[in-house]
Amino acid sequence: MIRKKQSLFILALSVLVALAQCKKDKIKDHTEDENPALVAAGKETFRFDSFGDEEFWSGLLHLDKAIAGANNGGFGPGVSPKTALAVGLKVDAEALPANVVAAIQSGAVSLDDPATTLALLKLNAVVGVKGNFDASGVLKSIGITCASCHSTVDNSFAPGIGKRLDGWPNRDLNVGTIVSLTDNAQPIADLLHVDEPTLRNVLSLWGPGKFAAVLFMDGKALRPDGKVAANLIPAAFGMKGVGLTTYTGWGDITYWNSFVANLEMHGKGNFSDPHLNDATKYPIAAENHFGNVTNNPDLITSKLAALRAYQYSIDAPKPPAGSFDQAAATRGKDIFLNKAKCASCHVPPLFTEPVNNLHTAAEIGIDDFEALRSPTGKYRTTPLGGLFARAKGGFYHDGRFAILDDVVAHYNSQFNLNLSTNEKQDLAEYLKSL
Ligand code: HEC
Ligand code: HEC
Repeated sequence: MIRKKQSLFILALSVLVALAQCKKDKIKDHTEDENPALVAAGKETFRFDSFGDEEFWSGLLHLDKAIAGANNGGFGPGVSPKTALAVGLKVDAEALPANVVAAIQSGAVSLDDPATTLALLKLNAVVGVKGNFDASGVLKSIGITCASCHSTVDNSFAPGIGKRLDGWPNRDLNVGTIVSLTDNAQPIADLLHVDEPTLRNVLSLWGPGKFAAVLFMDGKALRPDGKVAANLIPAAFGMKGVGLTTYTGWGDITYWNSFVANLEMHGKGNFSDPHLNDATKYPIAAENHFGNVTNNPDLITSKLAALRAYQYSIDAPKPPAGSFDQAAATRGKDIFLNKAKCASCHVPPLFTEPVNNLHTAAEIGIDDFEALRSPTGKYRTTPLGGLFARAKGGFYHDGRFAILDDVVAHYNSQFNLNLSTNEKQDLAEYLKSL
C-alpha cells in the first residue's frame, strides 16, 4: 500500500516535471520573438529604416528635389504639407515640438509652403519618409520605410496628423501619384518595356491605398478585364501565427519582408528566390536578376529577425465601442461558425488556417488572374482581425467588394447559403466586430 502511494507520488512528480519542461520549451520557442530589445529594434526598423533605398527614390527618381521644389533647390512647385496630406502622407504629431504645434495652430506656419514640408522632414515627422540633411540643413536625399504604406495616424491633431498607428494600412496613400512626381520616369518605363506616357497613365490609375508589387516582376499592368492591376495595402498587424503572407501566399513573413525591402523599396540587401528566374512567368524579374540580388554591405538581412518580432508584437486592433451592433454581431457569429461555415477557412482566433491557408480561385468564386501571378497559383485566406481598420478601399485583394455587405452577398451566392436579409446583416455586423 505504501509502495503504491509512493509510486503514484513519483508518477505525479514526473508528470509535473514533464509539464514544467514543456512550458519551458514553449517559452523558449517564443522568447526570441518576444524579446523586448528585439521588438524595440524592429520598431525602429519598421518606422525609420530605409535600408539605403535613397539611391532609388532620390538618386534615380529625384523625389527629394520634387518635394523641395524650385524655390528650395529642387524642381517644380514642390510638395507643401497640404499637398503631402492630399496624397495620403501622414504626420506624426508626437514628433512635433510644442512651438511647432503652436505655430501650426496659430497659422504662423504655412501649410502651403514646401519649406514647411522640409522642416517636418527634419523633425522626422513625416510617417514613412526619411529625410537626410547635410550640416547646413539642406535636404540631400529621402528614403522610404515600411511605415509609409503600413502605418497611419489617429487624426487626433487634425486630419492626417496624429499619433502613429503602426500596422494599419495607409489606405489614403497614393503611391502612384507620389512616384509620378519624378522628372526621371524613363528608367522605370524602360524596365517595364513601355513608353513614359504609358507608365504615367498606369501610375495614375492605381489610386489611393493601392500598389502593384508584382508589376515589377511580370510586367502585367492590367487585369484581363482591362482595369488596372493593383492590390490594396494590407494590414501588417495580427500577423503572429499567420503562415503564408500576402494575398496570394508568396511566402512567410520574413521572406516577404525581405522581398519588399529589396525589390520594391529598392533597399540594399541580399535576396534570392529561384522562382523569379522563370523568364516566362516573371520576364521583368528574370531579365533584371531580381531572383538573385546581392549587395555589400547587406543593409537588410540582419534586421529581419527584429522586423518580424515587431510585426508579431502588433495585435489586430479592436473596433471602437458603438461602431457595430453587439446583439446583431452575436447572432452573426453563430452564422459565421455554423450555417455559413466561414470558419472552415477563417479559423478563429487568427481567422485564417493555421497551416495550409491557400485556396484556388474557383473555391472562393473569383477570377484567377492575381493568384496565377504568385508562385502558389492560389489565394491566401485573409486573416480577418481588425477589419474595421482597413475598410477604406474595399475588400478582397483588389478592393472589388466595396463594403462588407457585398462580400457577404458574394459568399451567399457562391456557397448557396440561402441567408435571409437579416442573417446577411448580422453576418456583416459580426465582421465589423472582429
Ligand atoms: C509602397 C507600399 C509598401 C511598402 C513601402 C511596404 N509594403 Fe508591405 N505590402 C504592400 C502591399 C500592396 C502588399 C500586398 C502585396 C500583395 O499581396 O500583392 C504588402 C504586403 C505586406 C505583408 C503581407 C501582409 C499579409 O496580409 O499577409 C507584409 C507582412 C508586409 N507587406 C510588410 C512590409 C514590410 C516589413 C515593409 C518594409 C520592409 C513593407 N511591407 C513595405 C505595400 C507596401
Ligand atoms: C474556401 C475558403 C473560404 C471560405 C469558406 C470563406 N472565405 Fe473569406 N476569404 C477567403 C480567401 C482566400 C480570401 C481572400 C480573397 C482575396 O483577397 O481576393 C477571403 C477574404 C475574405 C474577406 C476580405 C478580407 C479583406 O481584408 O479583404 C472577408 C471579409 C471574408 N473573406 C469573409 C468571409 C465570410 C463572412 C465567409 C463566410 C460566408 C467566408 N469569408 C468564407 C477564403 C474563404
